[in-house]
Amino acid sequence: MDINSSRIDRLIELSEKNSDPATFSWPETLPVDVLWCDEDLMTTYGTESHKTLDFSQKCLLSKWEAINFFSLNVHGIKEALKFVADCIYEPRYDCVSQYMHTFIAEENEHMEYFAKFCIRYAGKIYETPSFSVKKDHPRLQQELYMFASTLIFEEFVDFYNHKVGKNSVVPGIVRDINYSHHIDETRHVSFGREVVRGLFKEIADDEETVKKVSSQIKSTISYFVGLMYNHNSYMDADVVKHCGFSSSFAMRNALRNSESRKEMHQIWFRRTINFFHQNGMIDDKRFLLSGLTD
Ligand SMILES: [Fe+2]
Ligand SMILES: [Fe+2]
Repeated sequence: MDINSSRIDRLIELSEKNSDPATFSWPETLPVDVLWCDEDLMTTYGTESHKTLDFSQKCLLSKWEAINFFSLNVHGIKEALKFVADCIYEPRYDCVSQYMHTFIAEENEHMEYFAKFCIRYAGKIYETPSFSVKKDHPRLQQELYMFASTLIFEEFVDFYNHKVGKNSVVPGIVRDINYSHHIDETRHVSFGREVVRGLFKEIADDEETVKKVSSQIKSTISYFVGLMYNHNSYMDADVVKHCGFSSSFAMRNALRNSESRKEMHQIWFRRTINFFHQNGMIDDKRFLLSGLTD
């Protein structure tokens, strides 16, 4: 695979410098009278529903949406670990197998602290639909989609981690976990981009394949946008009836298809979309403004 091996060596070096396990101080309980994320990261932000919420309702919803984000991490990491462990000794990945060991070790640590947080402060990890890509594509295309979906997932959660990791108001443990994860994910995103570029170069030899890749990448991004909206968060924060919805599913569907959320989706995924567009892997930079494709 054609990749920049000095960049991979540099990532290994950076990981070695950061190899001490993250240590957090875990309070018994966390306050629910403060926001657990930046207000503009909440899925109600910009909608009529958001205007009707008072501050204490926003705090509670931000807590349950943090549990959603951390639960998404637990499930996303499980899928990434399975996939990376599966291909670590394939000859094609010789050039990155050393880094894959580092990736697995770091993700194992992330999964542990995300799961611990959810269980300690919410008593549960939300279930999430499977992240796997259908297995009916040619082998290399399949592997490109798996690496691309891992990359899109990591960039998706990093937008949240990066902002909350700098937020001085959220509970300390929330800030520390988001910050620590952001630091590690910066390296993973760099690795993922190298591999995705390398695999795409190998298969992008006809127009039809390029079109298929574009359609798959766009639907993967739409899929992750949809996962921000978990009906259980609205139910657990007890805001469904208050916002005028007959069920938590109705609230989820209305919010994720709301006109006023489209621009936020575009902002959230701008960096990711630019990467795929600059490398010829998607044909349209503003597809999220037309709505989700599910
Ligand atoms: Fe991670
Ligand atoms: Fe990662």
